[in-house]
Amino acid sequence: MLLNANIALSSSKALLVPYSSWHVPQYHEWMKDPDIQEATASEPLSIEEEYSMQRSWRQDADKLTFIVCRAISTGSEGDIPSQSQLLGESDSPASMVGDINLFLRIDDGDEGNSPPQIVGEIELMVAEKVNQRRGFGRAALLMFMRYIIQNQGAILDEFVGGGDVDVETVRKLKTGVETAGSSEGLSLECFSVKIGQANLRSLALFESTGFVRCSDEPNFFGEFELRCTDLSLGSIDGALDKAGVKGFIALPYGRTE
Ligand SMILES: CC(C)(COP(=O)(O)OP(=O)(O)OC[C@H]1O[C@@H](n2cnc3c(N)ncnc32)[C@H](O)[C@@H]1OP(=O)(O)O)[C@@H](O)C(=O)NCCC(=O)NCCS
Repeated sequence: MLLNANIALSSSKALLVPYSSWHVPQYHEWMKDPDIQEATASEPLSIEEEYSMQRSWRQDADKLTFIVCRAISTGSEGDIPSQSQLLGESDSPASMVGDINLFLRIDDGDEGNSPPQIVGEIELMVAEKVNQRRGFGRAALLMFMRYIIQNQGAILDEFVGGGDVDVETVRKLKTGVETAGSSEGLSLECFSVKIGQANLRSLALFESTGFVRCSDEPNFFGEFELRCTDLSLGSIDGALDKAGVKGFIALPYGRTE
């Protein structure tokens, strides 16, 4: 997605920056870890394929991604970083801890005959063990959800304008025809995440962030789907507060390709 190509999300707990070409070698190293491959249900890619994926995450209208980095140290917790702090070493490979992605899709039911809804599927990874259980995952998830909820109009406009959603579906989404709550503009129905049944820490993280399992049993692939339908800014701000994530702000970010 182009919308976030020049945006960084900063807080006292993490910095999220657009996934750029200089992040690819470190990302590629992470993905060689069999544990990470299993937890993220990913196949290892060649470095060339990884560069191609990075370009696709940047350009495709149904994908939005950030690299998760350590927070910028501002001196006082919650202070807004300056542009020079942001553009320094803030997202060098040594500062990177993971990534977070949104994949937008139309859900019109198993048979394809339900009113279309836009679902935002989230993927999250804090790659190295040394950085896990240090609050990066929760901070990144809440910051990402906050950004998406606040900017959902522009995000969904880019999604449906990207050419992959057919005209009739867009009309139904826009007018609310056949949907219960008709609304003028586009809105996200829910966030979704698919988590392997053995990945208890990820299940714990998402369930403590308002995500609810869609079924009692895992699907054919051994995964649970969880959904979060409370997309109010008030709830997310309360969760940020509870997690001690201070000074959340979206900042202009120029160093990107
Ligand atoms: C799952 C993952 C995203 C969590 O991120 P993290 O930065 O390690 O987690 P945080 O420190 O932010 O912890 C957030 C919550 O996750 C849960 N959690 C994290 N690590 C846990 C562990 N080892 N055991 C149990 N719960 C754990 C807890 O609920 C925790 O909240 P709490 O500290 O208030 O109890 C991260 O460990 C990871 O990326 N693992 C590998 C890839 C993966 O599993 N991705 C998810 C695929 S959907």
